Amino acid sequence: MKRPHPAGVLCCSRAAGIRFGLLAIFLAVVLAVPASASKKVIFDTDPGTDDALALMLALNSPELDVRAITVVPGNVTAEMGLENALRMVSLANRCDIPVAAGARHPLFQKLVTAEFWHGKNGLGNVELPASKCKVDARFGPDLIIQLVHASPHEITLVPVGPLTNIALAVEKDPSIVPLVKEVILMGGSITGGNVNAAAEANIYNDPEAAQIVFQAGWPLTMVGLEVGDKALFTGKYLDELKKTHGPLNDFIVSVAGFMVNLSASFGSPGSPMYDPSAVAVAVDATLVRVQEMHVDVETRGEFTRGETVGNRHGGVERNVLRGDRYVIEGVDKVIPNAKVCVDVDADRLLQLFVSRIRGK
Ligand code: BDR
Ligand code: CA
Repeated sequence: MKRPHPAGVLCCSRAAGIRFGLLAIFLAVVLAVPASASKKVIFDTDPGTDDALALMLALNSPELDVRAITVVPGNVTAEMGLENALRMVSLANRCDIPVAAGARHPLFQKLVTAEFWHGKNGLGNVELPASKCKVDARFGPDLIIQLVHASPHEITLVPVGPLTNIALAVEKDPSIVPLVKEVILMGGSITGGNVNAAAEANIYNDPEAAQIVFQAGWPLTMVGLEVGDKALFTGKYLDELKKTHGPLNDFIVSVAGFMVNLSASFGSPGSPMYDPSAVAVAVDATLVRVQEMHVDVETRGEFTRGETVGNRHGGVERNVLRGDRYVIEGVDKVIPNAKVCVDVDADRLLQLFVSRIRGK
């Protein structure tokens, strides 16, 4: 047997020492990061195909620490949404995350479900195995209140469905508002709707709840159609995802495949990444360009109920009654209540999504 040269032993043992040292530093950093540096997130969802993509993005992103999932009716009924959420956390082996049922219907109107867009089971007709995770007994809005008080100024709310649960939490306990770190929601549009000419689906499905959430007074980022409609998930990104395998990866490939095919049947080259965009912004805010403005939700318009009305120039004319008419006497400033995402680096967002789902 050839004996190793003494210099070789020296070199390798020193190299091994250096490697060990680097590994120790790496482990120290990695083990230190999740608890302190990652954002604590409550994910409120109506799953939903793009909700599924968004949830898996959140669970696969070390920047986020998903503390709870609360379910709201929207794309599907409350029951079906809960079942979908439970099956997904089970697939991801994350029974440690509480999954709670929330509202059963919007605040003041009948529920509109969207199996038309999301498949008869809400998950693009992709059947997941029964869940090994159990539902949390707490009511979703109560769980939100509890977790916010338990971690004051640390929780980011990421709602990607109608805003019913968030509004119920605020109505029940307004003291959570200054304790929430920020709200990053998927919903709204300042350039026309996707359910009709004016309204985006999440806001349209509970406009009164949305108005409560927008006026609450917390830091709020609106990730609306200006982002989702540009971040189109096309066959190119699907092909990338198909290169890796695993239960979660394969599930997302199937759901995203359903979405891409559906979009193609409507003549679109890809499927809008609505809900994943909100999660992506929570991971990396530099993906979008924002404009601060005051946003109100139209709750009465004949053609515009559910529209998010953004004041882009920051002012409202002041009209004063003089005799039989009003006269404009100046412009009152309006205080912004939202950062509205007006543009996105779509390819970077889609690459982030693909790489995270692939576990890279
Ligand atoms: C929103 O509506 C739902 O159908 C999607 O899940 C998304 O949250 C897009 O308008
Ligand atoms: Ca949704």
